[in-house]
Amino acid sequence: MLRKLVATAAAVTLFGALTACGSGGSSGSADDTIVMGFAQVGAESGWRTANTKSVQEAAERAGIELKFSDAQQKQENQIKAIRSFVQQRVDVIAFSPVVETGWDTVLLEAKRAGIPVILTDRSIDSDDESLYATFLGSDFVEEGRKAGEWLVEETEGESRVNVVELEGTTGAAPAIDRHTGFVEAIEGTNIEIIASQTGDFTRSGGKQVMEAFLKAHDDIDVVYAHNDDMGLGAIEAIQAAGKKPGEDIKIITVDAVKDGMQALAEGRINFIVECNPLLGDQLMELAKKVVAGEEVPHRVVVEETTFTQEQAAEALPDRKY
Ligand code: AHR
Repeated sequence: MLRKLVATAAAVTLFGALTACGSGGSSGSADDTIVMGFAQVGAESGWRTANTKSVQEAAERAGIELKFSDAQQKQENQIKAIRSFVQQRVDVIAFSPVVETGWDTVLLEAKRAGIPVILTDRSIDSDDESLYATFLGSDFVEEGRKAGEWLVEETEGESRVNVVELEGTTGAAPAIDRHTGFVEAIEGTNIEIIASQTGDFTRSGGKQVMEAFLKAHDDIDVVYAHNDDMGLGAIEAIQAAGKKPGEDIKIITVDAVKDGMQALAEGRINFIVECNPLLGDQLMELAKKVVAGEEVPHRVVVEETTFTQEQAAEALPDRKY
């Protein structure tokens, strides 16, 4: 651990004898390996699994020691993990915030300890931008906008289009922003969101909420799911209700993981907006720069595309996740 190395070296100089330096304060082995504390959201979706794998593999490739913590979609667990990384005096903390708000106190603790923080995948809502060095992730508003724009074009000339929305985790940046972008795109059209509820980004959540939507509304034209997993759950509910997903009810999702792309290629989903989970290599590169005190952009946006059914069929054989 670099920080520890510097501190220990200073102490040793003071006492005039080089006896020990190293990582984590426990091993006593001399090395300059960067130690990253990474507080992941959880394992709620196929996207998240791919993201975790990308981060772990990239850390290994980059020679960065990763202390990994899974918050099981609970903010209090992430806060605990960050505090523990501060106590362990890691060189850099990276995390994907479960929700947008409530981070200032713990991030101030990291700042006071001199440990830089990198936000990855999701951002925070704070007035103090100095609490983190950089944010690497998608433009979620743009993702929502792309979903809405496709629907506007697809349903042009129809007198009324009823949409039910399966929202991501309440308070999470992708849930807030994907809703905002979609609403922006459909404004002034005959498309209306008739019901909206959280499915917590999980397949079971999507299925459960869709079952309730189908009981309450017999006029659903479109499902807009904030991720593939909830869309796939909705497909199960639609089929169980005796309807054909992709035909009787159109489905739009976000992510483009393999299962989603398969359903799209087979006609059970109609359109997917990509959200790229392969952030590992970029994250490690940024971490090395931040630890070295080099300047990095405060915001790094990930490039993404969209998929129609035809495009999914073409892309599927090479899809890595
Ligand atoms: O923050 C990214 C989102 O979180 C993904 O779209 C979703 O699948 C995940 O749970």
